[in-house]
Amino acid sequence: MDRVKKGETEEISQQLAEDVIHYLEACLENQEKVSMAVSGGSTPAALFQTLHSNYADLALWQQVHIFWVDERCVKTSDPESNFGNAREMLLKLGIPKKQLHPMYTGGSVTGACQFYEKLMKKHIPAQINDIPVLDLVLLGLGEDGHTASLFPGKDHHIETGLCCVAQHPNTGQWRISLSLRTINATKCVVFFVLGNNKAGVVAHILSRKDAAELPASLVNPAEGVIDWYVDHAAASAM
Ligand code: 6PG
Repeated sequence: MDRVKKGETEEISQQLAEDVIHYLEACLENQEKVSMAVSGGSTPAALFQTLHSNYADLALWQQVHIFWVDERCVKTSDPESNFGNAREMLLKLGIPKKQLHPMYTGGSVTGACQFYEKLMKKHIPAQINDIPVLDLVLLGLGEDGHTASLFPGKDHHIETGLCCVAQHPNTGQWRISLSLRTINATKCVVFFVLGNNKAGVVAHILSRKDAAELPASLVNPAEGVIDWYVDHAAASAM
């Protein structure tokens, strides 16, 4: 089931930030710590900024562990680095540095992918069928229907690992991504999508018709609910 919240860009970012805080607080009523995986690209910055403006230094950030949904295999100082772009803002929220878990910091891509699988098993207590259960995954959406670094034309649903190595179809850039298997084991999956350029793919995926070739349409979380936060521009073809 898809639950869709729409609003102007600032309004929907505020709404998502508020709902994220309420969700994390609810999780922490029954858990010592909470695990949230964030995507890269440009969209998440709107959420991080809103969280920083309204919810910085809340006590709960001391109990939050941040993972990445995917990462470009570049130096963390590279402007392409998802971790590099988010680190400062997340630290400013009050999340301890040791609780930011970058996916790639150099070296072998395959080795980093295998290391991340072990790291997730170490830091995420809840596991189902040996798959770490993230509390919250914040996904973006590409115009081609990709999410994370799960690009069209690949057999993502047969991936057996927790993470996978991918290559951007246009640039050839090496990536590491959570696998569909791991994403679908998540308690709460959120798509956060902004901008008119995403309107067609948002409408296509939410229509759930003939979208099977789009990786984002293969996201089907364990709890069966996907929450969409889209601005009016991205919702304009629905
Ligand atoms: C990445 C992301 C990717 C992103 C979409 C949307 O590393 O690029 O994880 O899946 O979420 O490409 O990107 P924008 O938010 O920049 O539109």
